[in-house]
Amino acid sequence: MAWIIYASGTETSACTMEWAMSLLLNNPRVLRKAQAEIADYIKQGRLLDESDVNKLPYLKAIISETLRINLWAIQNDPNLWDEPHKFKPERFDGLEGPRDGFKFIPFGLGRRGCPGEGLAMRTIGLTLGALIQCFDWERIGDDLVDMSAGVGLTLPKNLLDQRRQQKLGPEYYTDEIIKGIIEILLSAGTDTSSSTMEWAMSLLLNHPDVLNKAKEEIDMHIGSNRLLEESDLPKLRYLNNIINETLRLYPPGPVLYHESSKDCSVGSFHVPKGTILQMNVCAVHRDPKLWAEAMQFNPDRFEDEIEGFKFIPFGSGRRKCPGEGLAIRMVGLALGSLIQCFEWKRVGEEMVDMTEGTGLTLPKANPLIAMCKPNPSLKHLLSQI
Ligand code: HEM
Repeated sequence: MAWIIYASGTETSACTMEWAMSLLLNNPRVLRKAQAEIADYIKQGRLLDESDVNKLPYLKAIISETLRINLWAIQNDPNLWDEPHKFKPERFDGLEGPRDGFKFIPFGLGRRGCPGEGLAMRTIGLTLGALIQCFDWERIGDDLVDMSAGVGLTLPKNLLDQRRQQKLGPEYYTDEIIKGIIEILLSAGTDTSSSTMEWAMSLLLNHPDVLNKAKEEIDMHIGSNRLLEESDLPKLRYLNNIINETLRLYPPGPVLYHESSKDCSVGSFHVPKGTILQMNVCAVHRDPKLWAEAMQFNPDRFEDEIEGFKFIPFGSGRRKCPGEGLAIRMVGLALGSLIQCFEWKRVGEEMVDMTEGTGLTLPKANPLIAMCKPNPSLKHLLSQI
């Protein structure tokens, strides 16, 4: 399940952003209008954040229009669309736009329609909006960006061949640097989050009392008339404690490497400038001198504020993980939804095997296998997905 969420959630969204940016570069009028909408709404002094996306109807219309153009036949049918091959976000006139009937179905339809639509619209909106807000974009030359579709399941194309011009440091943002940034976001962001979910679910299966308590919390705050949403997460304190306790016992960055920028001392050791330091996060997180019953899974310990640097799953300092906020929300939403929508059990009497495997992100030696069935009190909702 976690794999399919990543497989269907990453390439589809990245591909849409690439097409959208290509369309914008070929349609500078639309790009300028989107820039003006963002500047007008956000004003000076802060960066766009996720909660702004809903207030930017033109940005959302650009995404819808990109998704329309990409889904061949129906969405490009001249009997259904006026000038179907033209990029005209205005036709969506805000969010609802021409969704009458079934002529606009980028996320499919019915019970097997994409369950990630809301998340995808927010992710794409936030990323595209931030790119439009933070940079001035231009084509490399006079030629239009090549819009030929490649071969593949998700309509790939090669935007990164298009060298970009930014106001700040154009010599720094070479194609290699941009590709590197995208690559590192994907590699640093996927394995770490999915392995946290797998460890968390394994711990919950071995501790049914904790699983029940998490379920009760979700029942109390959300009930059975709707599905858990990202905006519910701040209310789900116990779920958050479970994620923290999982990250304490099984940090996906078990060893960190930093270089000392000046002479310093660690404990009684003198560390000269330029020394590579390895930090054993796992050892700190499991140190019995720092944690009571250090090897016990006890989410309640996070009820109290954690002081100092004894809990550092996302590192610390200037090179701290920039994806922390996203990761906590992503893991919270996925894990919370799994707890809300299904009843979980171990496959037999034996406890789930918690042996650690080898690898950079502390994987499980044996992948989790578990049994689940739909939560009966949510059947009316699940059958509509
Ligand atoms: C549970 C999920 C995650 C965990 C536990 C985690 C943990 C970490 C850790 C420990 C570091 C090294 C920090 C240091 O050296 O002090 C790191 C770096 C990084 N993480 Fe994450 N991460 C997670 C999810 C994500 C996500 C979702 C993204 C982005 C989409 C991301 C992007 C990055 C990047 C770009 C770096 C390198 C930062 C730098 O070198 O300056 N991470 N992460």
